[in-house]
Amino acid sequence: MKIGTYYYPEQWPREQWERDLDHIAQMGMQIVHLGEFAWGTIEPAEGQYHLDWLHGCVELAARRKLKIILCTPTAVVPVWMAQKYPEIMLTGKRFGGRRHALHLHSRVREFTTKVVTQLAERLGDHPAVIGWQIDNEYNAPFDQSETTHKAFRAWLEKRYGSIENLNKAWGCQFWNTFYSDFSQILFPTSRDADYRNPHETLDASRFWSWSFADYNKLQADILKPRVGERFITTNFMPLHLDCDPADMANDLSLYSWDSYPVTGLEKQTQDETFRIADPAGICMIHDQMASYHNRWAMMELQPGQTNWSGVPTLVYPGAVRLWIWTALAHGAEFVTTYRYRQPLWGMELFHHGLVGTDGVMLSPGGRQFSQVADELKKIPAGKLKPAKTTAPSVGLMLDFEQLWYYTTLPQARRWNQGRFLQMWYRAAMRLGLPIKILQPGRPIPAEIPLVIAPGIQMIDDGLVSKFQQYVTGGGHLLLTCRSGLMNRNGQLWEGPTARPILPLIGGSIEAYDVLPDDRTGQIELDGKKYPWSVWGDLLYAEPETRVLAKYADQFYAGAVAVMQKKQGPGATTYCGAFAEQAFTDALVEKLCKELKLPTTVLPDRVVLRTLGSLKVLLNYQDKPIDVPAGKNARFLIGSKRLEAAGVAIWDEHNDATK
Ligand code: GAL
Repeated sequence: MKIGTYYYPEQWPREQWERDLDHIAQMGMQIVHLGEFAWGTIEPAEGQYHLDWLHGCVELAARRKLKIILCTPTAVVPVWMAQKYPEIMLTGKRFGGRRHALHLHSRVREFTTKVVTQLAERLGDHPAVIGWQIDNEYNAPFDQSETTHKAFRAWLEKRYGSIENLNKAWGCQFWNTFYSDFSQILFPTSRDADYRNPHETLDASRFWSWSFADYNKLQADILKPRVGERFITTNFMPLHLDCDPADMANDLSLYSWDSYPVTGLEKQTQDETFRIADPAGICMIHDQMASYHNRWAMMELQPGQTNWSGVPTLVYPGAVRLWIWTALAHGAEFVTTYRYRQPLWGMELFHHGLVGTDGVMLSPGGRQFSQVADELKKIPAGKLKPAKTTAPSVGLMLDFEQLWYYTTLPQARRWNQGRFLQMWYRAAMRLGLPIKILQPGRPIPAEIPLVIAPGIQMIDDGLVSKFQQYVTGGGHLLLTCRSGLMNRNGQLWEGPTARPILPLIGGSIEAYDVLPDDRTGQIELDGKKYPWSVWGDLLYAEPETRVLAKYADQFYAGAVAVMQKKQGPGATTYCGAFAEQAFTDALVEKLCKELKLPTTVLPDRVVLRTLGSLKVLLNYQDKPIDVPAGKNARFLIGSKRLEAAGVAIWDEHNDATK
């Protein structure tokens, strides 16, 4: 477990580098990132590479026993490239910002190859370098250049083989919009269907993600033979639609993401928790990052106020420390922050760093990073890693393709697939259960007792048989409304609603309802009524299917809302409603109790992690709480009473009550 920070030596006078690196080391940090966005300094003129400064800074850092993550500088192309080859710019972008060149363009690829080769040859296997970060937060608006249109056509031709197949996959019979040749196809302008063809837009999302993965592969292939065992990563934004992280699985050895938990945009503002953040949103992405290679890190962690949200709320005292510990308690290999120094100029001049505008004085975030560096010394090495033996209790399936299609064709305006996933995640997190994010392309581990697959609208035979096998093998599968409605092209089945999953769920979906914004309906579960409004399926349950919940009002009061079909030792529960959190919590709690999972019902916004004999409690509330520690618990950090935004870590090893 290491902590560290981004440092941009080229942005500061040379005579301050040593002072800054000394300070970073004195703060207890072990890692600095170097080189990000530095292409303009590395290659100030075409083919002229200046790497001495960077090499020099690597040496200075190494002398202070700091480890280095080198970044490829490709998120900002140098001005000479933009000037000499204007065709490389994304449509409508000009030089002066970042992420403004088209990663698909052959010239960009050519210059990328050269600069990354230079960097990797010079510094790839430097002993102080521990890993490589490729680029920065891949994203771009749907480009409209001829280069992109052509690349999209080539990708489609490979995928479909013939224009007839494409017309079928895109349902072009509708409005008679068929193509007779691939050359007629244009890359869509955005992910909004805009009353165009949603199947086409779904493919556009797939293609765009592939295009970033392909550019990433270009760089990874250069690095791989030159960096030995060092990790290769890129930093993702949470659930950002431009990249499905799974597309890069073969090219990254460690996954990482950037977390800015307090933007001031949180909905819940009645207390101070909007300054601390919602832990479900953070922890779900931690688990997602862990799900690819079981090796992940927190790359950029918000150190204080940011410049970009429009609501730069003051962060709650202690929250940065809480976020660092949250990442470490979810198995992050390291936690680093953007950035060491607050800039004095440029777009992000209001962005806090670990030190303020004088370049020396620790900010509140800086003090908290330093505090964690001290606290880490109290935790025995290796103790924070989730024990290999603790099998996850709940699996949550995250299928990126569904995120894309819901964005293009939401049907219900308030259907937010990211939020829906988070609600199910929060319901399991509230019970203190370890959660594993599952990907549809991988096998479903039979040892996970409960698997929740929310809103898997598009389905294929492979996934249906994985579900079936999992249930036959004794697993409990929870499916929800909007599951199994379509094939992977996003087209409905000719047949009853959700045809492929009907044998699993033991009934049928007769109709659905969506309520206006100012109305809520009621569902009754175990004698208690819960509100819902986003989506409600009206179900028919076959005689042997168990009815768990019913609608309690509207003209269809008494209609089935949740049902469960047993199949041998396993079962499938079908939840027909996108309801509020309280209902989601109640249903998951009921199923977990029936499955006899070892649950601990936690207060809202409190996270409990069990890591071998260590327990970590993370309090995202703005008031103190009691720690559920046994009487022989030995506290390494914190005590029985945990302050607002506080962290407690204790060892239960010698606890006779356990
Ligand atoms: C991130 C980005 C950083 C910096 C930061 C500001 O999204 O990767 O380079 O711009 O935001 O909060």
